[in-house]
Amino acid sequence: MDKVRLSTGMTTFPMPAAVISVGIGDEANLITLAYVGKVCLNPPIIAISIQPKRHSYKLIEEHGEFGINYPNIDQLRDMDYCGTRSGRDVNKWKELNLTKENASIIQVPLVKEFPWNMECKVIQRTELGSHVCYFGEVLAVHSDENLVKNNNIDPDKISTFAYISGYYVSLEKGAIGRHGFSFGDSK
Ligand SMILES: Cc1cc2nc3c(=O)[nH]c(=O)nc-3n(C[C@H](O)[C@H](O)[C@H](O)COP(=O)(O)O)c2cc1C
Repeated sequence: MDKVRLSTGMTTFPMPAAVISVGIGDEANLITLAYVGKVCLNPPIIAISIQPKRHSYKLIEEHGEFGINYPNIDQLRDMDYCGTRSGRDVNKWKELNLTKENASIIQVPLVKEFPWNMECKVIQRTELGSHVCYFGEVLAVHSDENLVKNNNIDPDKISTFAYISGYYVSLEKGAIGRHGFSFGDSK
């Protein structure tokens, strides 16, 4: 096959866009991020990257905690809204009719209406250039009980999407193989 060179600014794909909650009380805000990824199993650590010009930057700097909130596919518009409006100008919770749910450990609220939420505490920050990267230790994870199988996310019930090159792409086919299926074990 013939290949062409693309920009080195191209992202990994698919990317797991998520709505991140930052700040506490009336100041709490929501920001959509695509720069979100698990980087360590034990302790469980997820890295997120935020540009200092974002309103959310000041809030994560102030409180050192964040929530990761994953919408289902019907809530995609909420995600796009949180990534295209600033908390400086609008109250995203109010505009989207989203409810602040108390987290079990952190002070930052979670999005009640979204089926999956994670509570993270910043354990390290690194200035990389355009973005500041925050490493968050995952302290608690919550899921809609109807979407769980064997104490884990049920891959056949998940109704979600990825973010690839500026587009939201549906992942509607369900599980197409399990970790290790290349050994030939169909279970
Ligand atoms: C799908 C998507 C992914 C985004 N990913 C990031 C990101 O990883 N880092 C970042 O700083 N901004 C990212 N943004 C932009 C912010 O979400 C956007 O500027 C937002 O309006 C900032 O909100 P705030 O000013 O209330 O903090 C993304 C936006 C969208 C729609």
